[in-house]
Amino acid sequence: RTVYVNGEYLPETEAKVSIFDRGFLMADGVYEVTSVLGGKLIDFDGHAVRLERSLRALEMASPVTKDALLEIHRELVRLNGIDEGMIYLQITRGAPGDRDFAFPDPGRTPATVVLFTQNKPGLANNPVAKKGIKIISIDDIRWGRRDIKTVQLLYPSMGKMMAKKAGADDAWMVEDGFVTEGTSNNAYIVKGNKIITRGLSHDILHGITRAAVLRFAREAQMEVEERNFTLEEAREADEAFVTSASTFVMPVVEIDSARIGTGAPGRVAPRLREIYLEESL
Ligand code: PDD
Repeated sequence: RTVYVNGEYLPETEAKVSIFDRGFLMADGVYEVTSVLGGKLIDFDGHAVRLERSLRALEMASPVTKDALLEIHRELVRLNGIDEGMIYLQITRGAPGDRDFAFPDPGRTPATVVLFTQNKPGLANNPVAKKGIKIISIDDIRWGRRDIKTVQLLYPSMGKMMAKKAGADDAWMVEDGFVTEGTSNNAYIVKGNKIITRGLSHDILHGITRAAVLRFAREAQMEVEERNFTLEEAREADEAFVTSASTFVMPVVEIDSARIGTGAPGRVAPRLREIYLEESL
């Protein structure tokens, strides 16, 4: 695989980042995951805008222009022959020659920019979407700025492992009785014809797929309500689902071992997945 590191395209075995990189030592960095379908980038603009927002929130200057970033994404898709898959992008606050809690002078310490592709043939026709996934609920003990897409992913990883150990696929996080989001996706329930999902704040990541799916839902005359919902409400919902750049729209059929609706994907989530894929391709 050919990867990108600080201006260079290299074989992955030759790519290097300093051991003093603040991403490595302090999770001081941000990332984006953009999906590729039919060799085409999905929602690149949305991801680029959110990246800018994350960088600004952490007082990091953007080390690459949006146009340059688009060019790097396209070049990696081309060099690696990606038809369906993902591009991972990470920007960290660089590698001062030492460990220090204070941010280094950006003039002397350039940011580290890394991109690589993940080939995922069959991403759009994922058979899991036909069955739906099972989730468990866990406490949301993450920090208070989940709207910044930082590389601090230890708790989401632990949540995924808790789900695996419980025989489930993923976890929804709960704070003050309300569902915030999934470990790496936004969470939704459906009641009748109404799609309910938490509103945007510092509590959740502002999903790029979320924005697109809600827009398509509204265009298709579906009712959307952006508000908090509880686990109890989720367990009694007709349907549940998650969205992200890597899963698109994925039905949830079980929460904490309780079936949602009939225990199979319902009507709304599969329809939204279909619309999302049609509009994206
Ligand atoms: N995760 N919420 C969290 C906590 C996420 O990590 C993600 C994305 C989302 C969905 O955002 P988007 O629709 O923009 O992908 C919501 C990516 C895919 C990841 O970490 O791999």
